[in-house]
Amino acid sequence: MNPNIDVYTTTLSLNEDEVRGKTVVVIDVLRATSTIITAMHNNAKSLIATEDMGEASKIAQNLDPSRCLLCGERDGRQIEGFDLGNSPLEYTEEVVKDKTLILTTTNGTKAISRSSYANRVLIASFLNAKAVSEEIKSSGDEVILVCAGWKGRLSLEDVLCAGYIINLVYGGSLPEDAKDGAQVAAALYNRFADNILEVVSSSNHAKRLLGMGYSDDIGYCCSLDIVNIVPEVVEGVIRI
Ligand code: MLT
Repeated sequence: MNPNIDVYTTTLSLNEDEVRGKTVVVIDVLRATSTIITAMHNNAKSLIATEDMGEASKIAQNLDPSRCLLCGERDGRQIEGFDLGNSPLEYTEEVVKDKTLILTTTNGTKAISRSSYANRVLIASFLNAKAVSEEIKSSGDEVILVCAGWKGRLSLEDVLCAGYIINLVYGGSLPEDAKDGAQVAAALYNRFADNILEVVSSSNHAKRLLGMGYSDDIGYCCSLDIVNIVPEVVEGVIRI
């Protein structure tokens, strides 16, 4: 039986009571969850996502510096003194293999931290949407697709990806009692299914990233199903 799926188009209503007992799937297409999926696919040992820069530095100080990388951005730009920013293209196997990564980002890692009371927390983007859809089909839990958005506002690319996952799970026809969030995301996906790169490129955050020279990230983050893993947060650490 397919799971009951809701979509939170922003993180504003995300709290302990909302997520308890459910499977939460965090989506931040541009770029945090695309980065996490890429890093784990390229054999990073594990990844710790934190919403706080100071906390990230503190965690790194307690780890062997030769085996960890301090990573993150604010407003899209690499944080000064950190080893890596948040471009998924930086997270090559050569750079991340066997390393523990500590990542803090403007919205994505916040959404992950705020989901911590869920039964399971999975990491999704266009890169692994099919693998995520298979995983949640076999889960008995209610599912919430959480769109990380931008500073409390909706991000088109995240809702579009939620719609794609819903389409994969339900095979194109929503159940009669589908939640409003699921209906909106599915309708958005149905409208733009053939033009994903074009519509994502027109989004507010893509324009911000283009202005900073990250055009290659946008194309990469719109690659559908090139990765067959589903990173999961277990006791505060992301592994596959
Ligand atoms: C975020 O967490 O807000 C994003 O991933 C920002 C970015 O593009 O680096």
